[in-house]
Amino acid sequence: MQIIHTVAEFRRWRETAGAVAFVPTMGNLHAGHLALVRTAAQHAPDVAASIFVNRLQFGQGEDFDRYPRTLDEDAAKLRDAGVAVLFAPDEAELYPRVAQHYQVEPPHLQNELCGAFRPGHFRGVATVVAKLFNIVRPDVACFGKKDYQQLMIVQGMVRDLDMAVRIVPVDTGRDTDGLALSSRNRYLSPDERAEAPRLYRVLRRVADALRGGACDYAALERQAAAELSAHGWTVDYVEIREADTLNIARVGMARLVVLAAARLGQTRLIDNVEAFSN
Ligand code: PAJ
Repeated sequence: MQIIHTVAEFRRWRETAGAVAFVPTMGNLHAGHLALVRTAAQHAPDVAASIFVNRLQFGQGEDFDRYPRTLDEDAAKLRDAGVAVLFAPDEAELYPRVAQHYQVEPPHLQNELCGAFRPGHFRGVATVVAKLFNIVRPDVACFGKKDYQQLMIVQGMVRDLDMAVRIVPVDTGRDTDGLALSSRNRYLSPDERAEAPRLYRVLRRVADALRGGACDYAALERQAAAELSAHGWTVDYVEIREADTLNIARVGMARLVVLAAARLGQTRLIDNVEAFSN
């Protein structure tokens, strides 16, 4: 596996490669990321991965400075998983003029759900993903459903800006007790870690109710949030949305998704479960 740190060198590698499947990450890799790599390998002969902790998508007071940076371990995992090339630029390489950088402005969805609690986050995601697509020029790029709103925003950007890449969604990788794998799980205390799988259980119960025909969405959202609050969570939101657009759900829609973000202590966890009827 080649490790490349500069845009110029990556472009030289790209000229010699054929079809490329791409997995962008911020590093500190776990089994969820490696599942993306495995899916990518099914779509092109060469898999490219990137590791870049993108300052633009972190808000004031978020964990940019303490985000775990574990490049050597990550590179070993990617090499073992068969990745052909790892792009790991430093900040000056991608943002030599960060304060006055052109950005990609997503539509209103960027201010809903997680965006309501993380102003500017999805603008930062869209901007760095657009840059990475322009550097890597992948044929296919894999994104996890774990970050469902991010997946929708990237799909929308590719569609509306005519980017020549196919986005492949990958199912959420979970621990045996159901907790969605996340680099941020390491911030949980043992007690919080024991409580954390409730988020998935609660969302699954809502999804089961939806599949069973329940249609008082507001009541389902309220009950789910109340159960989390009763167990010490600070709930940012629990919302039922249309799965393909993230539009507000209306009764009769067959493809729904229930999404939540909630904090245990200092750690903010997100998860979602799709609920498709017939
Ligand atoms: P990061 O959080 O490192 O995640 C990289 C990719 O792994 C994303 O597509 C994310 O959805 C996926 N992923 C994370 N945990 C997962 C899990 N448990 N199961 C399946 N997939 C999972 O998401 C980002 O980085 C950044 O926002 C990025 C897209 C790289 C732009 O900076």
